[in-house]
Amino acid sequence: MPHLSQHSFSTTPQTVRAARDFAMEALDNWGGCRRSDDIRTCVSELAGNAVRHGSLHGHAYLVRLIRHPDCLHVEVHDSARHSRVRIPSASLSAEAGRGMRIVQELCDDWGVRVLTGEGKAVWTCFRRPEAHTSRCSCTP
Ligand SMILES: Nc1ncnc2c1ncn2[C@@H]1O[C@H](COP(=O)(O)OP(=O)(O)O)[C@@H](O)[C@H]1O
Ligand SMILES: [Mg+2]
Repeated sequence: MPHLSQHSFSTTPQTVRAARDFAMEALDNWGGCRRSDDIRTCVSELAGNAVRHGSLHGHAYLVRLIRHPDCLHVEVHDSARHSRVRIPSASLSAEAGRGMRIVQELCDDWGVRVLTGEGKAVWTCFRRPEAHTSRCSCTP
């Protein structure tokens, strides 16, 4: 049985820190995680994107962590269904546009899933170092 922990946050930049802290607390409650630094950074970027790009006015975003036997699956749900999450080719001097590149580097797999109802989930997968299967159970 996977363990699941989730929390919704209002779409203001101030909640990104709370989203990050929530994720770290969930990992702690599950006994810690060797990849918690990577997960913290990714939650920050994905929550920031949900606030900045992904949410219709007044809609909350949701952070969900699922502990599978072979990975930690972390996703952020927002209310903008059709926006395209992409990895821009940022120039060296660009001040923005690096978040998803960082996410791609830190996680083992990521993607976007359209949610039934409204919105989308941007998901990331962090394999457990001790996982033995070649394919992850969380990958759609
Ligand atoms: N949750 C999201 N909803 C809609 N569009 C998104 C979302 N996340 C990222 N994007 C799109 O992908 C682009 C790249 O994201 P990112 O690398 O984090 O750069 P930045 O947030 O600095 O623009 C964003 O500029 C935006 O167009
Ligand atoms: Mg960003």
